[in-house]
Amino acid sequence: MGSIRIGVIGVGLAGRHHLRDYRAHPDADVVAIADPDAARLQEIGGEFGVSRRYPSGERMLQEEELDVVSIVTPNKFHKPLTIAALEAGCHVLCEKPMATNADEARQMLAVSRRVGKRLMVNFSYRFTEQSMALKQQVDAGALGEVYFARTVWHRRRGLPGLGGWFGQKALSGGGPLIDLGVHRLDLALWLMGYPRPVWVLGSTYDPIGSGLARERGVEFDVEDLAVGLVRFENGATLEIEASWAANIREAELMETRLFGTQGGLVQRNVDETYKFEAEMYLERDGSQFDVKLHSYTQPVKSAMVHFVDSILNDTPHIATGEEGLVVMEILDALYESAAQGQPVRIASPHE
Ligand SMILES: NC(=O)c1ccc[n+]([C@@H]2O[C@H](COP(=O)([O-])OP(=O)(O)OC[C@H]3O[C@@H](n4cnc5c(N)ncnc54)[C@H](O)[C@@H]3O)[C@@H](O)[C@H]2O)c1
Repeated sequence: MGSIRIGVIGVGLAGRHHLRDYRAHPDADVVAIADPDAARLQEIGGEFGVSRRYPSGERMLQEEELDVVSIVTPNKFHKPLTIAALEAGCHVLCEKPMATNADEARQMLAVSRRVGKRLMVNFSYRFTEQSMALKQQVDAGALGEVYFARTVWHRRRGLPGLGGWFGQKALSGGGPLIDLGVHRLDLALWLMGYPRPVWVLGSTYDPIGSGLARERGVEFDVEDLAVGLVRFENGATLEIEASWAANIREAELMETRLFGTQGGLVQRNVDETYKFEAEMYLERDGSQFDVKLHSYTQPVKSAMVHFVDSILNDTPHIATGEEGLVVMEILDALYESAAQGQPVRIASPHE
């Protein structure tokens, strides 16, 4: 197979990262981009030397012969554009969250299976050396049996584009839980081996976000903080917290902990930045050891490079549509539980 021909739909903040990361692969070529924002299309097209530019993803899919399409639009458009790209015979790398709800995610997965094309979700926080090294250790049994996880992403004041699409439920599907929590939830679930969720308890709040929106006279109808408990079929429990606006010291606080019978781990950000560290706390023959990952162990490939490699080598990719759907089922149940004020069961796929 020659160079992989790629199209990117949506070239905002995250779309630029897709272009940057595909460029790192010698056999990947972003040949076309699409975005209704003409100025942005021109700016990004110029910066990355992509001359084939379209005002809509649908037009791009009609006119281009592509192998891979990245969907990097507001969440509401993930489902229709993913389905259109799959139907056009492309493999799809869709941004997180996979969709605005589980029903949409289920439809996307069904089309991917029917047409026999890949569907990957950009759970980008797996693609760090800290996350990859910890995953190797958990899979090798270093923690024993994992029975509890706590996974968190809080910001002191970090509402993305207040007044824009992130704060409008019809476009985003929700607030920080679906935006930030989705990453930390996937990271914890992936490290735990994606156990099957059976019920959840969730609460959401919006005092700071809705206050700021009122002051500025802009729309905001999602939560600014969410908290939840997820119980799994194997008996394990996970606690999740996510906020865009919380009265805490840190500007940005990310932390995922796993608690196991023979060890625990933490993957967290350093100095309120997007750099990470990893530690394990092990119990061996009655003695307790602290193990810290030395910085820079092995360079880790981005999600985009991993996806292209998997296609070229015909090997499985990680961060699958199936896992994206499990995340969406948990998020749906957390929002429903918050609305009802009581725990919510997640039906088994066989029910
Ligand atoms: N993986 C990550 O770490 C990460 C980081 C940031 C954002 N994201 C995700 O990426 C997606 C985009 O977020 P963003 O921060 O880049 O938003 P953004 O608002 O900066 O950019 C979105 C772009 O999509 C374009 N767009 C809107 N509707 C479109 C349509 N129907 N077809 C084509 N383009 C359309 C907009 O004009 C804009 O240029 C979201 O799903 C978000 O959750 C992921």
